[in-house]
Amino acid sequence: MDHFLYRDGVLHAEDVPVPEIAAAVGTPFYLYSAATLIRHYRLFDEGLDGLPHLVCFAMKSNSNQAVIKLLGDLGAGMDVVSGGEYARARAAGVPGERIVFSGVGKTREEMRLALEGGVRQVNLESEPEMAVLSEVAVSLGVTVPVTVRVNPDVDAKTHEKIATGKSENKFGIPISRAREVYAEAAALPGLDVIGVDVHIGSQLTDLAPFEEAYKLVGALTEQLRADGHDIRRLDLGGGLGIPYERSNSAPPLPTEFCDLIKRTVGHLGCEIEIEPGRLISGNAGILVSRVVYVKEGEGRNFLILDSAMNDLIRPSMYSSFHEIVAVAEPAPGVEMAPFDVVGPVCESGDTFAKERPMPPVAAGDLVAFRSAGAYGAVMSSEYNTRPLIPEVLVQGDQFAVIRPRPTFDEIINRDIIPEWL
Ligand code: LLP
Repeated sequence: MDHFLYRDGVLHAEDVPVPEIAAAVGTPFYLYSAATLIRHYRLFDEGLDGLPHLVCFAMKSNSNQAVIKLLGDLGAGMDVVSGGEYARARAAGVPGERIVFSGVGKTREEMRLALEGGVRQVNLESEPEMAVLSEVAVSLGVTVPVTVRVNPDVDAKTHEKIATGKSENKFGIPISRAREVYAEAAALPGLDVIGVDVHIGSQLTDLAPFEEAYKLVGALTEQLRADGHDIRRLDLGGGLGIPYERSNSAPPLPTEFCDLIKRTVGHLGCEIEIEPGRLISGNAGILVSRVVYVKEGEGRNFLILDSAMNDLIRPSMYSSFHEIVAVAEPAPGVEMAPFDVVGPVCESGDTFAKERPMPPVAAGDLVAFRSAGAYGAVMSSEYNTRPLIPEVLVQGDQFAVIRPRPTFDEIINRDIIPEWL
């Protein structure tokens, strides 16, 4: 459920008509709904009621500071994967004790930043990383709570580029070696081994792989406790999928996911952390774009938009589907016609959808990509020297630009031409 609905024939974001925002900020732009973000966060937070828990928003899905502050003020924790994300979370007012530091290649500098600024826990992904974190902690005279991310060798049944829980993936340590690695971690100074971490992939539309992984983590927890480790926290990752194609998909609900957690690991008495990203931010955002040209090709017609693969890379990168709707509500029963919906970038990969049934739209009309709040703005680039597009947040009847569109000068002036040229 989201808050982008037609009202009086026009797509609204909460109580604001989308064309009003388009007129104020220009197109293209990302548009987020505060009510949807809040609602989705609460589904998880309330779903885990009864267990000590912290919902840590995966900032990689949407790291705008307004979004982070909104969620942080509700009590959310943050899952960060870089020094930059750590700094952003702190800048948005999230205290260190609610920040979990994940990621497969944390550098010494990043570790130092987090340890000096305060961190809830660091999720370790390899033995070399463990040794380095121990050195950094000792050099700073601190002890840092850690978990080890285990790779349970579970097939997440998702797109190969976003599956992370199989043994061939680069993430975590094989669960079969976990006891040995925990023994090593426990022997290192500066580390306090407090838990187990797992994350098997993203956009999972079936609960079975989660169930398999969480049962393995539960069994491992008992073994590790028997080995003498005080395992008191489980970080169960993120990954719950969203219905990109509403008409034919209904992934499990957050409540079902939370019930599964209670069923599989609830008896262990551990504090539970989860790291949802997409389910909180995905359907809380749309990408609004304008049709530049309607072009008739040979056997194919094209809608050429003013947004491109640099603004939303998911279709070209993962062949992913985003619903594309006209901002002016089509009349009931209107005839749809197939279009290739494309951007202006000079490569054929700059295609959002092929032969997509679209209502009649003309040059100048607004369209919106749904489910663009996660892995949209954060993955955008300035390819073709196209400025990063603005982000706008709506709450009720108010909206604000939360990242402005840079001018050409701002982009161009970042380059430095050496004196000797
Ligand atoms: N925790 C860890 C350790 C992760 O690696 C991820 C996502 C998450 C949590 C959040 O997963 P979510 O709940 O959002 O599924 N760019 C891709 C998705 C990459 C996900 C990477 N890791 C896309 O656009 O589909």
